[in-house]
Amino acid sequence: MQKILVTGNGPLHGEVAVSGAKNAVLPILCATLLTEEPVTIRNVPNLHDVQTTRKVLEGLGAKVTTDEKVFGTGLESFMTVDSSTVNSHIAPYELVKTMRASVLVLGPLLARYGEAEVSLPGGCAIGSRPVDLHIKAMQSLGAEVVVEHGFIKAKAKGARLVGAHHSFDIVSVGATENALMAAVLAEGTTILDNAAMEPEIVDLADCLIAMGASIIGHGTSRIEIHGVESLHGATHDVVADRIECGTFLVAAAMSRGKITTTHSRPETMDAVLDKLREAGAEITIEGDRITLDMKGQRPKAVDVTTAVHPAFPTDMQAQFMALNCIAEGVGIIRENIFENRFMHVSELQRLGADIKVEGHTAIVRGVDQLSGAPVMATDLRASASLILAGLVADGETLVDRIYHLDRGYENIEAKLQGLGAKIKRVD
Ligand code: UD1
Repeated sequence: MQKILVTGNGPLHGEVAVSGAKNAVLPILCATLLTEEPVTIRNVPNLHDVQTTRKVLEGLGAKVTTDEKVFGTGLESFMTVDSSTVNSHIAPYELVKTMRASVLVLGPLLARYGEAEVSLPGGCAIGSRPVDLHIKAMQSLGAEVVVEHGFIKAKAKGARLVGAHHSFDIVSVGATENALMAAVLAEGTTILDNAAMEPEIVDLADCLIAMGASIIGHGTSRIEIHGVESLHGATHDVVADRIECGTFLVAAAMSRGKITTTHSRPETMDAVLDKLREAGAEITIEGDRITLDMKGQRPKAVDVTTAVHPAFPTDMQAQFMALNCIAEGVGIIRENIFENRFMHVSELQRLGADIKVEGHTAIVRGVDQLSGAPVMATDLRASASLILAGLVADGETLVDRIYHLDRGYENIEAKLQGLGAKIKRVD
C-alpha cells in the first residue's frame, strides 16, 4: 500500500493553484441526472471520490466522458454527463459504502424518475452520520420512503414530487443538497428553512439555475424553489476548493513561510483567513490570489470552534490542530459538527504533540519542535494534518493509509513539492 514520506524542510515559498471543490463537484455530478441533455462540468478535480461518483452514474446507465485542454498555465479537465440513457434507479452498497456522498443521487433520481433505491451508507470513521434528514426532506416533498434490507427505497406518490415548506431539524449540507435537487422538478413552490449556506450549496444552485431551475435565496438559511417541468443541458465551472486552499495556507503558516494561492475564492474563506491572521499571518488578497506571509515568525496558538458556514468549518479543524501543536501558547479546539473527529490526536501525539482531549474539546499546548515518526491516517482531513505536521517535524514522517488523502486532495505531493516541501509517495 502506498505511503507518503515527508521530511521537515524549512519555510514553504511560492505559488500553488487551487483545484475545483470536492464538495461542490460531487453534488453537481449527481445533479446531471435531472436532465436528458448533456451537462459539461469544468474545473473537475482528479479525485478518487469523483471517480466513485462517475461509477455510480455509469451504474445507473449514464454516459460519462472526460476531456482535457491546456488553459493558461494549467490543464483544465472537463467531464460531460449524458443521462438520457439512464435505465436504473439503484445505487448499490458496493459504491455507497466507499463514499457517503453517493446518497446525493436520491433526490435527483426521485425527482426525474419518481423512484430511487439507495444503499444506506453505514458508519464512517468520524461518526455515525445518519441520513434521517435526507429522508424527512423527501417525505415532505411527497415521497413514500421505506428503509429495508439496507436500502432507502423512495417513490413519488404522484407523477411528480410536490413542492412543500420543509424546515430541517438541524443544518445539514447533504440533506439541503438532496432536497434542493428534488425540489427543482417538483410541482409548485418549495421553501427550505434552516438550510445549509455553504459555498458548495451556492455552486450547486448556480449549476441548477444554468440548467433552467428557478431558485432564490441559496447562500441564506431559506431557499425558495419554483419547480419546473424539465431542465436542460448546461456548462458549469466548479467553485474553488476552500478546504484545499486553507490546507496550503496553514502549511505555509506552520513552516513560517510565504505562499500565494491562485484560482482561489477568498470570499468563501473569511473564518479561516481570520484565524490565520490571529495566528500572526499577514494576508493579502488580490482577486483570486491569497498571499500569506509569516515574516519568518512562529505562529501563535488560536482557539477554534467548528460550526456551520459561515463559521469555522469542521473540515479545517484537523489542520488547525496541527498548527496549534507547534504554535506559541495554548489553543482550544471545539468540534461541534461530528462526534468522533479527533482521531488525528493520537497520531499527532506520536509526533510529540501535547494534546489533551475532554469530550468534544482538545487543549493543545504548542511544543518547540515535533519529531518525525510513522503515523496512520484515519480520515481525509486527518491525513492532511499529519502531512502538515510532518512538514515541520524534525526528520522523516511516514504517513500510512493515504487512500483517504486521494479521496479529496488532487496531486497534493506535487503541489507541496512546488512550494519547496520534501514530500514523496513511496510503496
Ligand atoms: C458535508 C461535507 C463534509 C463536511 C460536512 C460538514 C460533502 C460531500 N461533505 O458532509 O466534508 O465535513 O458537510 O460541513 O459535502 N446529520 C444527521 N442526519 C442526517 C444528515 C446529517 O444527523 O440525515 C448530522 C451529521 O451526523 C453531522 C451533521 O448532521 O453531525 C452535519 O452533517 P452534514 O452537514 O449532513 O454533512 P455531510 O453533508 O455528510
